[in-house]
Amino acid sequence: MKLFDVYPINPISITKAMGSSVWDDNGTQYLDLYGGHAVISIGHTHPHYVDMLKRQLDRIGFYSNSVEMPLQRELAEKLGRVSGKEDFELFLCNSGAEANENALKLASFHTGRKKIVSFSKAFHGRTSLAVAATDNPAIVAPVNETDNIIFSAFNDEEALEQVFATQGHQIAAVIIEGIQGVGGIREASVSFLQAIRRFCDQYGAIYIADSVQCGYGRTGLFYSHDYAGVEADIYTMAKGMGNGFPIGAISVSPKFKASYGMLGTTFGGNHLACAAAIAVLDVMEQDDLMSNAAKVGDYLIEKLRAFDQVLEVRGRGLMIGIELPAELASVKKDLLMKNKIFTGEAKPNVIRLLPALNLSIAHADQFLAAFAEQLQAQQVTA
Ligand SMILES: Cc1ncc(COP(=O)(O)O)c(C=O)c1O
Repeated sequence: MKLFDVYPINPISITKAMGSSVWDDNGTQYLDLYGGHAVISIGHTHPHYVDMLKRQLDRIGFYSNSVEMPLQRELAEKLGRVSGKEDFELFLCNSGAEANENALKLASFHTGRKKIVSFSKAFHGRTSLAVAATDNPAIVAPVNETDNIIFSAFNDEEALEQVFATQGHQIAAVIIEGIQGVGGIREASVSFLQAIRRFCDQYGAIYIADSVQCGYGRTGLFYSHDYAGVEADIYTMAKGMGNGFPIGAISVSPKFKASYGMLGTTFGGNHLACAAAIAVLDVMEQDDLMSNAAKVGDYLIEKLRAFDQVLEVRGRGLMIGIELPAELASVKKDLLMKNKIFTGEAKPNVIRLLPALNLSIAHADQFLAAFAEQLQAQQVTA
């Protein structure tokens, strides 16, 4: 059997990883500033994480949500504390798309309404409703198409006001990334997030903060949406939560009332997934990784803004987008092939940095030197 060929891949096979480094099968070392789509939060192969998973596997790896799960309660307690939402409640699942799917369903159950507001360039995942709320027709199958999604312009308060004025009483939820990731590292403005809160309160709609990529401490606050000083009704999360172990979740405000069977999953919240997520929060707390993300992120953003050839540097903390002109389109590939540094991209020409939250200043400097070298090389060739 061959693999179903849906991914354009780099010709590199990673066989070992530690911290912010990975090694290929020839023993070549790379600096990882991408963490496999923003997933590696506490660094690859972190000793506490490895130890917790190994010990858990020796005891029990999996049982379903039909028995007592003390590990889930421990995770909920820690997550409530670290995220500053101790009065919220936790539902565990397996991925970002699933988290958003559950959040949207919960909003619809709660309000009895069908319409969802999403924004231009949004990405919310590939399951049915999440992909319908994603602004990319190429990945929406005919079966996913629905009239229930209303797209409005990102960061445009007047357009949103108009949507609410005309359809407000049909709207179940507004879903928004605090910083759009796939859309090119574009931050929702403070006043826009405050307006969402206001309209949701006025019309009885639910504010869903998609924190799958921008959350889990990456920007220096646990949820980047919270920079706006208003609270969402549901926060969705995944990526950094398990440092590579598949786990997702929604954190739900006390206004929602749970009932048996309303939401459910076979694998979500299993013993191994909880052990992974608890280990991540342990390390985040012990090593104060949110402060480090803010510090190293500020440093990188300031240095990157000093390069003349860079059109714009966007983002917060360790979620950074570097917009380059079209003639510098090969910089990302050269950073990988020549300088051995993994970065991400967003179309048309944005380099995305999404490293582990314990990235050091020395690693940031290594990247800045390589970036300067590539910009210089392109100028010479041009
Ligand atoms: C903002 C956002 N939401 C949802 C998702 C979907 O997450 P997953 O791929 O885990 O389903 C992603 C994935 O990139 C994302 O960036």
